[in-house]
Amino acid sequence: MYKILKAGKLAGNIYEMVVEAPRVAKHCLPGQFVIVKMDEVGERIPLTICDYDREAGTITIVFQPIGASTEKFTYLKTGDSFRDFVGPLGRPSELCEEENLEETRKKKILFVAGGVGTAPVYPQVKWLHEHGIDADVIIGAKTKELVILEDKFQAVCGNLYITTDDGSYGRSGMVTKVIEDLVTTEGKTYDHCVAIGPMIMMKFCCLTTKKYNIPTIVSMNPIMVDGTGMCGACRVMVGDEVKFACVDGPEFDGHAIDFDAAMKRQAMYKTEEGRALLKLRE
Ligand code: NAD
Ligand code: FES
Repeated sequence: MYKILKAGKLAGNIYEMVVEAPRVAKHCLPGQFVIVKMDEVGERIPLTICDYDREAGTITIVFQPIGASTEKFTYLKTGDSFRDFVGPLGRPSELCEEENLEETRKKKILFVAGGVGTAPVYPQVKWLHEHGIDADVIIGAKTKELVILEDKFQAVCGNLYITTDDGSYGRSGMVTKVIEDLVTTEGKTYDHCVAIGPMIMMKFCCLTTKKYNIPTIVSMNPIMVDGTGMCGACRVMVGDEVKFACVDGPEFDGHAIDFDAAMKRQAMYKTEEGRALLKLRE
């Protein structure tokens, strides 16, 4: 069993949990994820890692309830335990690998973080900062109350640009508008972009960065079942190749991803999820 050392709301319907998981904390790297399971019969939920503390042996996860299983997770409190916490899964971000440091140091890097997807961006930016590289970061949220981790990012990034869809905080408009503004009117140049958030955001970020020839990595979060490359549930088309997000990713070249097919697959179980959620709330 895995003990929850801290549980609570981060903002709106976004939840944060600090979990005692020393083995995962010892080995995980930025870009990787975990699969959690509440009990023996619980559904497996893939969640990105927001932070880790190797000494304390803890992992911080941030999530938003989108179905019955994630909603059940929000009922857990500090001191509770749950059944499984499997990880670290997936390949670490190439940007945060020691052997790539010399190359990475030469790049001007822009991270684009959208909504709950802001959480998995944090360990990458923090890792780079700890290795002497301060990347620029754009955080996008629907409204002021949904901006997360601002202080944590402020401490580890270069320039931080916050934007809200409704203009209630920071700049006004979606993250793609900020990318446009930075590279067209504010004289910024970037050699590398990492965009993490809802698929629709990653799709439009990639269309924008393609115009300016900025190579862009995205972190795909398709439906997953086993998380070990056996079931094929998480397949995504990258160029003309089929890749499994759980073992070949989750990070891929965003300019080669077929986002429309990925979004279609992601929507496949929405009705079933909705039914399960209504049943849980009865
Ligand atoms: P959201 O809908 O609030 O969007 C966040 C930001 O993305 C917006 O503020 C906007 O700036 C940008 N955006 C949204 N649509 C856009 C568009 N059409 N064009 C340009 N920019 C756009 O995000 P949310 O509600 O927090 O997102 C939840 C989703 O994020 C879930 O579907 C979840 O699966 C996904 N998610 C993805 C990852 C990942 O690893 N990729 C991690 C966590 C969550
Ligand atoms: Fe089964 Fe990736 S989740 S192959």
